[in-house]
Amino acid sequence: MKLLEERIKADGNALNENVLKVDSFLNHQIDPQLMNEIGKEFASLFANEGITKIVTIETSGIAPAVMAGLHMNVPVIFAKKSKSLTLFEAMLTTRVYSFTKQESNDISISKKYISEDDRILIIDDFIANGEAALGLVNLVEMTNAKVAGIGIVIEKSFQPGAQKLKDLGFRVESLARIAKLSNGEVTFVNEKVEELV
Ligand code: G4P
Repeated sequence: MKLLEERIKADGNALNENVLKVDSFLNHQIDPQLMNEIGKEFASLFANEGITKIVTIETSGIAPAVMAGLHMNVPVIFAKKSKSLTLFEAMLTTRVYSFTKQESNDISISKKYISEDDRILIIDDFIANGEAALGLVNLVEMTNAKVAGIGIVIEKSFQPGAQKLKDLGFRVESLARIAKLSNGEVTFVNEKVEELV
């Protein structure tokens, strides 16, 4: 998605070879116009998948997921990372290990919002090793609903997550695919191909 790639080039900050900081429009301050375009793009990419609900994970997945939900006219459920004081109903829980943060979190969703005839689109802001997305797949599969697709805002293609999910048979669509982060520079997968031509 050109608009997103331009924004990453302009405002993203490659902290090192592994981490891209995008606090000014996605992870801390949020740009609603950009999120709206991102939501529209996901809606268009997954228009033929019969999506009935979107599942994401707090915190930074929520903004793009809600915009996608708005354009697809479906509800959005976000997995919670901490135990809620007000959710008393049956919860489904799985453990997710973050290589980036080197910590494990239990993530949960309430059973009552997903039924077995749902077709779920999973959305998240980043994919690195794929652990968060795999955790969301696990939660959805516990309900016997179908994961009909996975939409990622920024894929770090030099890390194995997206390929891992594709190898498992899931349709993964990432709006920006980063081939390389180095010396404060971001190189997208399509730029790398262009370099080789
Ligand atoms: P994985 O799920 O693909 O295996 O990724 P990982 O565990 O490594 O990522 C853990 C957290 O770090 C996730 O956010 C993920 O979105 C974020 N993350 C991973 N790589 C980057 C990166 O290069 N830049 C930024 N900005 N974030 C990255 P989280 O803990 O769920 O945080 P939040 O959603 O509450 O903001």
